[in-house]
Amino acid sequence: MTCQTCDSKTHASGERQPILSVRDLTVRFAGVDQPILDRVSFDVGKGEVVALVGESGSGKSVTALSIMRLLPPGTTVSATAVDFSGQDLRDLSAGEFDHLRGGRLSMLFQQPQAMLDPTSRVGAQVGEPLYYHNGIHGRENRRQVVGLLSEVGIPDPSARADCYSYELSGGMAQRVMMAAALSAGPELLIADEPTTALDVTVQAQILRLLDAERRRRRLAVLLITHDLSVVSAVADRIIVMYAGRVVEEGPATRVLKQPAHPYTQALIRCSLFQADALGKLFSLPHGAVHARDLTAGCRFHPRCPVAQVHGCLDRCIVEEPHLGDTEYGCKARCWAATREDHAACEGASA
Ligand SMILES: Nc1ncnc2c1ncn2[C@@H]1O[C@H](COP(=O)(O)OP(=O)(O)O)[C@@H](O)[C@H]1O
Ligand SMILES: [Mg+2]
Repeated sequence: MTCQTCDSKTHASGERQPILSVRDLTVRFAGVDQPILDRVSFDVGKGEVVALVGESGSGKSVTALSIMRLLPPGTTVSATAVDFSGQDLRDLSAGEFDHLRGGRLSMLFQQPQAMLDPTSRVGAQVGEPLYYHNGIHGRENRRQVVGLLSEVGIPDPSARADCYSYELSGGMAQRVMMAAALSAGPELLIADEPTTALDVTVQAQILRLLDAERRRRRLAVLLITHDLSVVSAVADRIIVMYAGRVVEEGPATRVLKQPAHPYTQALIRCSLFQADALGKLFSLPHGAVHARDLTAGCRFHPRCPVAQVHGCLDRCIVEEPHLGDTEYGCKARCWAATREDHAACEGASA
């Protein structure tokens, strides 16, 4: 159903029932003072594609890995809720979580070749979740493996099932990873930069495949990427992360057409390779900021062009904005972009 006010299939307020609800997810690595993720909250609706975007180092992979319980030992993870399909994942023991991961909750990684086991045949790796989660073995397992390989576009799937992963190209390896990730019939797939390591021509094929599979299976997808052109093709909703914080979220069409946060505006300009009047490509000033190097106030203020022009820089330096409603139906963590604080900001600078 399309929202009446924002021409999106879903609305920021969450028309769809969430399959995943994350609240206040905070991650600290041993020996690092600042939390790398700081109170990250978001929902993924049933059958919805939510894109998690941001520069390298903003905390996208750590978000995914903490949900999947794949962070290294010694990492401290806390949250007020991590609900998956009505179940609080924080309550699950390690054994119970193993039965969920790779089954109802599955993940696709950036480096398919690195994630596949070079010593085991492709068919065994795709068939393993089928056996472990669904108890399917023997000939039926083989039949379903070949069916899955065919479904993800592997030519001659029966022969390929007997190959080793090092015999496959990057694109074929990612198709195999997708077959393995989908084999036990997940309800939510977390895809972490699934096309970044691939050739440009293959990237589009893998994205089309991902989109076709999620429609066929009514699958919810949390799609992690730094590439906004990927997002525009498939996402219903966008969550923008900066230095371990969510700084903007809303329907994909809205965020892409009318980004409210200066950081989202800059990301879009970068991804479109926009140039200035002199033909110089736009780029964000300074390198990416990491959560561990933060100062007070808005995390983006040292790189923000808007704060200076808008006249609320004093406030941005000392006080971090909350995630407030913007004029265009999204939420943004910016004093200059949020409705109620727009006036407050002008008042403060008057
Ligand atoms: N195991 C780790 N120990 C310490 N710091 C880490 C670890 N893994 C990631 N980080 C740091 O966490 C931040 C977020 O990383 P990540 O989530 O991988 O970013 P990205 O948005 O590029 O996926 C980065 O500053 C990274 O250096
Ligand atoms: Mg990453």
